[in-house]
Amino acid sequence: MTTRVRCSRRPRIGVALATLVVLTAACASFDPDARARFATPRRGMVVCEHPLATEVGVAILEQGGNAADAAVATALALAVVLPRAGNLGGGGFAVWVAHDASEAPRVLDFRETAPSALTSEHFLDANGQPDPERSLAHALACGVPGSPAGLFELHSELGSMRFEDVAQPAVDLARNGFPIDAELARSLAHDGVRAHLTREGAADQLFYPGGVALAEGDLLVQEALARTIERFARRGPSGFYQGEVANALLAAVRAGDGVLSAGDLRDYEPVWREPLRGWFRGLEIITVPPPSSGGLVLLQVLSMLDGFPLDQEIVAAAEDARRMGRDLDPREAGLSGRAVHWWIEAMRRAFADRAVHMGDPDSPNVDVPVDELLSPEWVSERRVSISEFAVPDVAPLDLPAFREDGETTHLSVLDTHGNAVSLTTTLNTSFGNGLLVPGAGFFLNNEIDDFALFPGVPNAYGLVGGDANALEPRKRPLSSMTPTIVREGDQVVRWVLGSPGGPRIITAVIQVFLRCEVYGQSLADAVAAPRLHQQWNPPATRFEAGWDPLLLDRLRGRRHEVVETEGTFASVQAIRVDVGGEPVGVSDPRASGAVGAEGRDLVPAAAFARKPR
Ligand code: DON
Repeated sequence: MTTRVRCSRRPRIGVALATLVVLTAACASFDPDARARFATPRRGMVVCEHPLATEVGVAILEQGGNAADAAVATALALAVVLPRAGNLGGGGFAVWVAHDASEAPRVLDFRETAPSALTSEHFLDANGQPDPERSLAHALACGVPGSPAGLFELHSELGSMRFEDVAQPAVDLARNGFPIDAELARSLAHDGVRAHLTREGAADQLFYPGGVALAEGDLLVQEALARTIERFARRGPSGFYQGEVANALLAAVRAGDGVLSAGDLRDYEPVWREPLRGWFRGLEIITVPPPSSGGLVLLQVLSMLDGFPLDQEIVAAAEDARRMGRDLDPREAGLSGRAVHWWIEAMRRAFADRAVHMGDPDSPNVDVPVDELLSPEWVSERRVSISEFAVPDVAPLDLPAFREDGETTHLSVLDTHGNAVSLTTTLNTSFGNGLLVPGAGFFLNNEIDDFALFPGVPNAYGLVGGDANALEPRKRPLSSMTPTIVREGDQVVRWVLGSPGGPRIITAVIQVFLRCEVYGQSLADAVAAPRLHQQWNPPATRFEAGWDPLLLDRLRGRRHEVVETEGTFASVQAIRVDVGGEPVGVSDPRASGAVGAEGRDLVPAAAFARKPR
């Protein structure tokens, strides 16, 4: 396991100014009464995308485990009950904040790496043209899995229980089986998913016994996966990266003409990284650095928006509605076309930087200018470039359809000491590359598609990139995962949040945070509220259903290309600690997770659906 705390190799210009901002922010957030107002959490809490995994996490907390124990147990349970996204064969990022403020927050990067023999030529078809199927539905699409090494490392550094005990609930769920829920049944019945899963590997027999898709309520027993987790629990990472499990994985990759090797598996290491930190209205945001773009884009957008008169605009929007005699839903009343225009333009600019500047900072060919991207000079330059009208920088690209199903998953955990873990993990698209390793029972990822394989050619999420995110041996592809923890004055945890959703992760986290912290909405209202998404390329902004039609018209008036979609964006799993230490959890009603708290009944995500006024 490696520790790298450097995010940029550039000379640190702008450090003096940045330090000044940090100091000012630190003073602004010092509040002697904060410990009393935001006391130690009254109960531990777990929020994730499957109720059975939430239950596992809460049981670990109730047994005296801390947030790291519960996060790892929940993640391993998700590897069993959420096969489309929970995983051993993928990778992710975790943020840890300890209740003891003298202990520095930490980020663990367990992102997949490119196999050493992989080149971009592997992704060309017989005519020399980029072939997206190869980076999505092929053994070549698979990066070296990071989850087993990452979860083990997170637990051994920060957990308090025995690893075998933390892993046991996942083994039990795999061995004894669990009833298939409506979401998984729907997904298995989908023609595209069926084609993806029956191409090769062992998913065919597991999910379509006798050629028929398992249905809601059928028991899913995964004995091979139970053995894999058991082996991993007893032997640690070597139980996965070497021996029987590794051999099964390599055989599956070879059978599919992939190039991942035994050496790639043996050499995999998660990396501890220094978190990115920023401040917004006295709150300290602690989030992931590259090779995820999530934290940088989040902090850039919030810093740009911090300089706009958002509060004045809330008053103006209310006045406007009154003048027009509109009886607006109070949950949307503070959002003016002008303010939402600022949100979109800030997102556009940060995503432009993502495409050009962000990639794996450990590659010898990549130099992510983290300090410059967050410097007050750059942020203000970007801010003043936002006029009253949309300014799309680039001509639209011809994009593949957005995939609206979930493929990544996020969990948020808080324990009664006040430790927190925010962890996002992924196979990339649904069920990864579709290859369930025969005899070992887990899906392989298709994370290689997150590289900018060819200049100007968008990936599955429509993202384009350049040299910083070009494919190189052993490099980590740029991610959008944004696990984040926010602290209040005196360094008490106030928020734990994150989401699946590709680049929509970042914009969803931004919007939920803004809706609560700027617009005064409850966490449930903020999570359920309709979302928008802007990622620079394409220039159009996409909107979920439910936005005020007049607001959309006003954005059109500001020359925004508005695309309304039927699909949903992301699935936020969040905890916010209220005054007095009461944690409030919300599991996005767009998916079927649950909130669990010690001593409380589970609350299903459906309970957070937006109610009509
Ligand atoms: O790391 C990334 O940004 C993507 N592989 C995440 C994919 C994702 O979130 C899909 N989930 N819905």
